[in-house]
Amino acid sequence: MQQSFADAAAMVAALRPDRPVTCYRPQVLADRARAFVTGFPGEVLYAVKCNPDPLVLQALWDGGIRHFDTASLAEIETVRRQFPEAGCYFMHPVKAREAIRTAYERHGLRHFVVDHADELEKLWDCTGHAGDLVVMVRLATARGAAVYDLGGKFGCSVEQGAALMRAAAARGLRVGLCFHVGSQCMTPTSYLAACTLARQCLDRAEVAPAVIDVGGGFPTSYVGPQPPPLDDFFQAIRAGLDLIAPPADCQVWCEPGRGMVAAGASIVVRVELRRDDHLYLNDGVYGSLCDLKFPGIHLPMRIIRPGGQATAPLRPFSLFGPTCDCYDQLPGPYMLPADIREGDWIEIGQAGAYTGVTRTGFNGFHADETVVVRDGAFLPEPAMRPPEPAHIAA
Ligand SMILES: Cc1ncc(COP(=O)(O)O)c(C=O)c1O
Repeated sequence: MQQSFADAAAMVAALRPDRPVTCYRPQVLADRARAFVTGFPGEVLYAVKCNPDPLVLQALWDGGIRHFDTASLAEIETVRRQFPEAGCYFMHPVKAREAIRTAYERHGLRHFVVDHADELEKLWDCTGHAGDLVVMVRLATARGAAVYDLGGKFGCSVEQGAALMRAAAARGLRVGLCFHVGSQCMTPTSYLAACTLARQCLDRAEVAPAVIDVGGGFPTSYVGPQPPPLDDFFQAIRAGLDLIAPPADCQVWCEPGRGMVAAGASIVVRVELRRDDHLYLNDGVYGSLCDLKFPGIHLPMRIIRPGGQATAPLRPFSLFGPTCDCYDQLPGPYMLPADIREGDWIEIGQAGAYTGVTRTGFNGFHADETVVVRDGAFLPEPAMRPPEPAHIAA
């Protein structure tokens, strides 16, 4: 059972932590899950890769999530240990033969993604020509306004997708279509454009889909331009589905990660040294902050100074992680009080997605302390936006 505090400042006052601490907000997570479950026109699969912490999975379950996008055996086992009755779907386009066999035989998975003819053969072979497979064909999408483009690594063309659909259907298998518009996608129309590709693929394949899966990509609120409301994305998806006109028995899925859990946690780190406008922290790129390397992933930050107020105006700082490695730095700039100093803590908000999962033990720094806090999400404010032109660390 995690310790629970009113907020991150109360946690710092009580614990004065010398290592980074993740502050989870189960209520925020459950509310966000509920917003997806009630607003999305279909089934919502949580993308476990984003944050598989049992507390997070429990909060999402409490918010109504019953299905999970699992991309490895370890993720399937994590979900099934906690929720034996949960639905799991193998949504990684490239899988080890052993993983396919174990997922099919031991864990009972039936839905597997492919984006290449050889992967379809592998699937067919490893399941002993199972007739109850549902082959999910993944289409590559055009890069829209997403921070991460996943199309370069995964997905096939409309023509290749149609060929894969026909090849699976020729074996008597049911077939679905899926795509991912890219993570932190800011434009609802990207989903409509991807649905247009799906329509073209279905026209070529002439195979009725059993599932249309519009993937993840739903954005959260970082410092900088704010994303449109979630409902705008659901509306664009509804318009896309009208275009696809799937048969009545076709299921519709999405697989949110970031947009579901980012707001559900913040991370509290400590300043170990200030050198002018450089702050050396006890967490960094090899710890929880790897995702911050991507332009556009600018998390809100605020100082915590127990027993004292930091009232100085905000000014830009660059952040440096604890390892002796020079990649371990985040030029930002990040707006923090001008008088910030060694021994202050910084709360980093919107940090529930792709933080703990990418932590390493590089240089002996690894921290996985977690607590629960009971305040609302720590959202960005306009003052956190750095002035132009960008200040770059030396
Ligand atoms: C197949 C798949 N589905 C869903 C997600 C979750 O994406 P996001 O966190 O952008 O919602 C990912 C992320 O990499 C993914 O690869």
